[in-house]
Amino acid sequence: MSEQIKPVVIITGAAGGLGSAMCQGMVAAGATVLAVDLPGRFTDTLPSSCQLIEADITTEAGCEQVAIKARQAGSDLVLVNNAGVGMQFINPNFASKPTRFWELTVKQYRDAFDINTHAQFQLARLLAPVMLKRGWGRIINVATSYATMQLPGFVPYGPTKAAVEAATVIWAKDLAGSGVTANVLLPGGAADTRMITDTAFFPDRSKLVPPQAMVGPLCFLSSRAADAINGQRFVAQFWDPTLPEADNLKRSSARAGWGDQPHAVGG
Ligand SMILES: NC(=O)c1ccc[n+]([C@@H]2O[C@H](COP(=O)([O-])OP(=O)(O)OC[C@H]3O[C@@H](n4cnc5c(N)ncnc54)[C@H](O)[C@@H]3O)[C@@H](O)[C@H]2O)c1
Repeated sequence: MSEQIKPVVIITGAAGGLGSAMCQGMVAAGATVLAVDLPGRFTDTLPSSCQLIEADITTEAGCEQVAIKARQAGSDLVLVNNAGVGMQFINPNFASKPTRFWELTVKQYRDAFDINTHAQFQLARLLAPVMLKRGWGRIINVATSYATMQLPGFVPYGPTKAAVEAATVIWAKDLAGSGVTANVLLPGGAADTRMITDTAFFPDRSKLVPPQAMVGPLCFLSSRAADAINGQRFVAQFWDPTLPEADNLKRSSARAGWGDQPHAVGG
């Protein structure tokens, strides 16, 4: 990361998986890290310098609690909207024996949107004004691959992440020229976390994307070098830390969203 910016990085869903790996990577890179997860979820695996925030970010009070701590910690803020639930929260064998959309309850559908989509908005809504006042900031939304958004049996997960992708494109446009950016980050394949419970479909965990893959692009996005990067999506598994940033930008990033197609104008 750049010497000029020593950001405060807020990482949600930090108690395990990708969130925990990103906390460790950002502490190693010199950032102040606020690690957010549900009450009772943290174990002692995170670096002791991480400030732990136990909050349910599906609630407005939980998001406000995070925002208060973030404002107290500093003003160069990086918000990593990572917390989420996968299809395992509906069905542990979600890939080998998929659940069809009509088999879901309305509550399951709503709950998935509450954490995967609405919590991202609530935190961004609270912290964007702080970033705008400062003239610098990052909103990084963890989404998923386009294929996963459209897999059979992947309601509600796929639609929650498609909404995140679309929201990021719009946020990036709303923020353009402000010094604050919004980008998408994803592992780029099934990652080796507790979300991947379906051992029949994923028998060999060594083939899963390691959670540490997220760290390289996150470090880059948190730095001054990424000041002009807005509305992009980064596929972590294509980021090779041994290569120069310019090469990684070509390999690992593209415009977020589905493109501005002329026939879509007007709805
Ligand atoms: N694992 C994958 O294959 C994969 C692939 C693409 C994208 N993702 C995305 O990566 C992100 C991280 O997932 P992961 O794979 O590390 O899974 P994970 O289950 O290890 O991490 C998710 C974390 O979110 C936390 N969380 C859930 N509800 C919360 C709430 N209401 N308030 C605060 N925290 C809450 C959980 O406690 C958990 O620690 C998710 O957004 C997921 O959709 C994962």
